[in-house]
Amino acid sequence: MKTLAVMSRKGGAGKTTVAVNLALAARAAGVKAVLADADPLRSACEVLRERDEAAGLFFETSASKLFTLTEACRRSGADLLIIDTPAAPEADVAEAVKVADLCLAVSRPTYLDLAAAVRSVAIIQRLGREGMIVLNQCPAPRNGVEPPSVVKAFEALRFAGLPVTPVALRSRLIYQTAFAQMRSVLEIDKSGAASAEVRQLFDAVWRAISGEGRAPLRTANDDLRRPARAAGLTFVSAPA
Ligand SMILES: Nc1ncnc2c1ncn2[C@@H]1O[C@H](COP(=O)(O)OP(=O)(O)O)[C@@H](O)[C@H]1O
Ligand SMILES: [Mg+2]
Repeated sequence: MKTLAVMSRKGGAGKTTVAVNLALAARAAGVKAVLADADPLRSACEVLRERDEAAGLFFETSASKLFTLTEACRRSGADLLIIDTPAAPEADVAEAVKVADLCLAVSRPTYLDLAAAVRSVAIIQRLGREGMIVLNQCPAPRNGVEPPSVVKAFEALRFAGLPVTPVALRSRLIYQTAFAQMRSVLEIDKSGAASAEVRQLFDAVWRAISGEGRAPLRTANDDLRRPARAAGLTFVSAPA
C-alpha cells in the first residue's frame, strides 16, 4: 500500500477537493483507495458520508492516530491511502508527512498560497519525504494564452525545491457542484475538462508514488517549463 498526504498550510487551497477527487479517480481506475480525513473540520467526511460505499471509503481520524490507521489500512488490503490534512497546526501536518510515501502540496496561483507552499516544502524536506506541488484553482487561459498569475506561479515554484505536477487544475464550478452532490467531477461529467485534469493528476501521482515506469522526480533546478508545456501552459515571457 502507498500513502499520499495532501497538504497546504493555507485554508481553501483545495486540499479536500484534490484528496476526494483523487480517491474517487483512483477507485474508478481500479485502485483500492481509502481516504483518511485528518482535518478536524471534517470537510471530506461531509462530502462522502452519505455515499453507499462510505464505510469502506473514508475514515475520520486525527494526527495522533495516523500511524495506527495507516497500518490498519495496509492490513485491510488497500492499495492507496490518501490523507486529507488540516492547514494547521504544523505538528499535525508533520504526522501526515511522516507516514506518507508522497506528499502533494496544493497551491493556488496567489502570493499567499505560494508562500504557504514553500512552508509545506520545508516540512517535507525536513522530514526527508518525497513531494510534488500541484497548482489548483488556476484561471482559464484567454485566447490560448496562460494568465500571468499562472505563469508567475510556475516560475516562482521553479525555486521551491520540489517538482510541480505537469497538470494544473483550473478554477471550475463543477468542482463545487460535484461536492454538493457528494460526488467527484468524474462521476458528474466523465468526459469533461475537469475529469480529464483529475485523471491526469491521478496518473502523475500514481506513477510517482508507485515508481511504475517513471523517471526520477525532477527537482526545482530542472527544467520546469517542460511539464508546463506538456500541460498546455503557454509562457508569455521567458523566465529570468
Ligand atoms: N479547482 C477548483 N475550482 C473551483 N472551486 C474549487 C476548486 N478547488 C477548490 N474549490 C473550492 O474552494 C473551496 C475550498 O476548497 P477545499 O478543497 O475545501 O480547500 P481546503 O481543503 O484546502 O481548505 C471549496 O468551496 C471548493 O469547492
Ligand atoms: Mg479541507
